[in-house]
Amino acid sequence: MAEIGKDIEKAKFLLVNGDLVAIPTETVYGLAGNALNPEAVALIFDTKNRPAFDPLILHTSSIERVEDFVSYFPTRLRILAESFWPGPLTLLLPRKPIVPDLVTSGLDRVAVRVPNHPLTLTLLESLDFPLAAPSANPFGYISPTKPEHVDAQLGGKIHYILDGGACEVGLESTIVGLEEDEIVIYRLGGLEIAEIEKLVGPVKIKDHSSSNPQAPGLLESHYAPRKPFILGDLKLLIKENLEKKTDFSVLSFSDFFAGVSFNNHIALSPKRNLHEAAKNLFSAMRKLDEGSASVILAELLPEEGLGRAINDRLRRAAVK
Ligand code: TXA
Ligand code: MG
Repeated sequence: MAEIGKDIEKAKFLLVNGDLVAIPTETVYGLAGNALNPEAVALIFDTKNRPAFDPLILHTSSIERVEDFVSYFPTRLRILAESFWPGPLTLLLPRKPIVPDLVTSGLDRVAVRVPNHPLTLTLLESLDFPLAAPSANPFGYISPTKPEHVDAQLGGKIHYILDGGACEVGLESTIVGLEEDEIVIYRLGGLEIAEIEKLVGPVKIKDHSSSNPQAPGLLESHYAPRKPFILGDLKLLIKENLEKKTDFSVLSFSDFFAGVSFNNHIALSPKRNLHEAAKNLFSAMRKLDEGSASVILAELLPEEGLGRAINDRLRRAAVK
C-alpha cells in the first residue's frame, strides 16, 4: 500500500530524488517522474509494465516552460494552448534534444500538456524539471480517476499518491498535432472536437488503431476490464443473458433495467449528462470489473460531444 496524502513537499522530495509519485490531474491520475532523468523515466515504464515503444506525455506548468522542450510552436497549436491550457489538451510538438529519447520512444515529436489541477500545478511550479506521466494504471487496464484506484494496482510499487480527490473530467486528454497543414486528433479525449474546431477550423480524426505508428499507445484493445465486456442493445443483451442464466452486470448511460440487481447495475448519468457520464465512466468500469458478476453488458452513448470519446473507450474495452 502506498501512502495517500496532500503533502506537496513530500511529493517534491521524492521526485527530486528520482522516485515516482502518482499525481492528480483533471483527466486521470498520472504516474509521474522527472522527465529529464532517464532512470526515473525507465522506472515509469517498469512500474506500469509499459512497452518502451509507447511514448510519455511531458507535463509542465505553463506555455513558457513548454518552450524549453520544443523547437517550434506552430501558430494554430499555440492558439489551442493559449485557449485550453491548463486543461485536457495534449499537443505533439517538435522536440528539443534536451528531451530524453525514452520519453518520446525515439519519435521526433514530444507530447506536452499543462494539466488543470491546483495541487499538481503547484507541484510543477516548484520543480525545475517537467514531469513525464502516463496514466497511473498497469499497461492496458482502465485509467485511475481516484487515489484508491492507483493504490489498488500500483500501491505495492510506489511510495506516495498525491490526493487530489476524484478527477473532474474523467477521460484522458485529447491529443492534437499538425500534419502538413492539417490539424489532426490522435486521441479523442476530455476536450471536445467542437471546441477545437471553433478556433482552428475542421480537424482530421486519425483512426488510432494498432496499425497507426504515430500514436503507438493507442492500441485497439485498451482501457480493458479483465472480465468480458460486451457492447450492444442493453434490452436485448439483458433478455438473452437472463434466459441463459449468466451472472452479469450492466453499465448503462441513464436507464435502469428490470431484472438486474441494484448492486450489479450502474447508470453513468441518470440525467443523460455527458460530462457526468465521462466523470463516472472509469470508476464504474472498475467497480463492475471488481464485482461478483462474470460478464459486463454495456451500451454506447450518443455519438456527440464527449460521447465520442466515451464511446471510443467503451469500444476499446470491448475488444478482446
Ligand atoms: O490525460 C492524460 O493525457 C493523462 C494524464 C496523466 O495527463 N495521461 C495519459 O498518458 O493518458 P498515457 O501515457 O496513458 O497516454 C498517452 C498517449 C499514449 O497513447 C502515447 O502513445 C501517446 O499519448 N503519445 C505520447 N507521446 C507521443 C508522441 N511523441 N507521439 C505520438 N503519440 C504520443
Ligand atoms: Mg494510459
